[in-house]
Amino acid sequence: MASGDSVHGMWSSRLMFILAAAGSAVGLGNIWRFPYLAGENGGGVFVVVYLLCIFLVGIPIMSGEILLGRSGRQSPISTMRDLTARSGAHPAWQLVGWMGALAGFMIISFYSVIAGWAISYIFQMGSGAFNGADAQYASSAFSAFTGDVVSVVGWHSLFMVLTIFIAARGVGRGLEVTVKYLMPALFFLLITLVVYSAVTSGHFMEGVAFMFSLNFDKFTWAGALSAMGQAFFTLSLGMGAIMAYGAYMPKSASILGTATTIALLDTSVALMSGLVIFPLVFANGLESSAGPGLMFITLPLAFGQMVGGQIFGVVFFVLVTFAAITSSISLLEPAVAWVVEKGGFSRAKGAILVGALAWFVGLGSAFSTNIWAGFTVLGGLTFFGLMDYVANNIMLPVGGVLIVLFAGWKLEQKTVDEQMAGDLRFLPVWRVLVRFVAPLAVSVIFVLTFV
Ligand code: PHE
Repeated sequence: MASGDSVHGMWSSRLMFILAAAGSAVGLGNIWRFPYLAGENGGGVFVVVYLLCIFLVGIPIMSGEILLGRSGRQSPISTMRDLTARSGAHPAWQLVGWMGALAGFMIISFYSVIAGWAISYIFQMGSGAFNGADAQYASSAFSAFTGDVVSVVGWHSLFMVLTIFIAARGVGRGLEVTVKYLMPALFFLLITLVVYSAVTSGHFMEGVAFMFSLNFDKFTWAGALSAMGQAFFTLSLGMGAIMAYGAYMPKSASILGTATTIALLDTSVALMSGLVIFPLVFANGLESSAGPGLMFITLPLAFGQMVGGQIFGVVFFVLVTFAAITSSISLLEPAVAWVVEKGGFSRAKGAILVGALAWFVGLGSAFSTNIWAGFTVLGGLTFFGLMDYVANNIMLPVGGVLIVLFAGWKLEQKTVDEQMAGDLRFLPVWRVLVRFVAPLAVSVIFVLTFV
């Protein structure tokens, strides 16, 4: 271990950091959540607000998180504690680390359940049940599956075990291998599916128009808030995941360049998923506003009609599952690293402890489509809906803004200069973005949504 390295291990290169951070960013957020939110919020206007948030808010915040992580080289909780002390800031800044760990638990609670759905679909596709199926069949299969508490809990549990297993192996061995081969595979399969959708659906341009034409009648501030929440969620920002990974980043790599690369990769996966799903939605007369089931109804239906679709379907859901694992590991990493630092546990024990707690909280979301489906708060949110709404639309943006405010205003100049040495040319622009643009944009959306 070179001096200045993290005790949790280090990425072997800048490329490895990019792959791991992209593995964190690319996940259910891109493939499952982005299309269904765009569908619910009127398409083009949602997509534009989302893209603006990625570039004006997301990239600056991501660089802020990497910067803090690499300066602290520990779990986000300990990093925030040390940096607060080092820069003489008010001790309350430490809460940023804690709030992030809490948001991580809230997110993993539903994330592991949806990932469990994806694992189950590997087997449902493999069984051939969808061969030649119609839209009616695909929708009722989805409701029947999510209505069955035993299966949903079972698959959720299996997903959690897989996550713990890889997280326990540690930063280098566990993640690097998973990310190096499976991320590119997912990318290529998505490209294939976009081509399939373009060639065979007969409704490709309708899908494109839905995603990219600006229909201001459909704009609402609640929709803008969802688009902003999605930008944070999809880039894994605001809760310390990227800060935790930044702690293992080699000192010399450029922060802004890296953040931009990750954001571009992530955004292209989301847009591709939309370009696969919406043409299929229109071709099959489905509802674009179908909600969380959108991907699970549309894609099996399409695979069922495709030559070789049974195999494609299996491969697709396998890759989605791995994309979800590389994200869920990063959701747990802030808490795991902290437990290892504080509790003196081995990584394996830390991962099991944190994973078990996350599994337990996840039961609430697993029950939300069956035995607890009737329990709702705040105008119809189930436990799952509540976790999703509060964590993504509120806690991540608040956490992210606090992170950039800290990086932009509080952190000692010396540390900033050192960390940003690879980005000197863009430093003035970056400073304006983190000090003013990102915090203001988030505040405006909050105020106009809630006031
Ligand atoms: N970015 C991940 C996805 O899109 C989810 C995630 C959110 C991961 C927050 C880590 C932190 O699937």
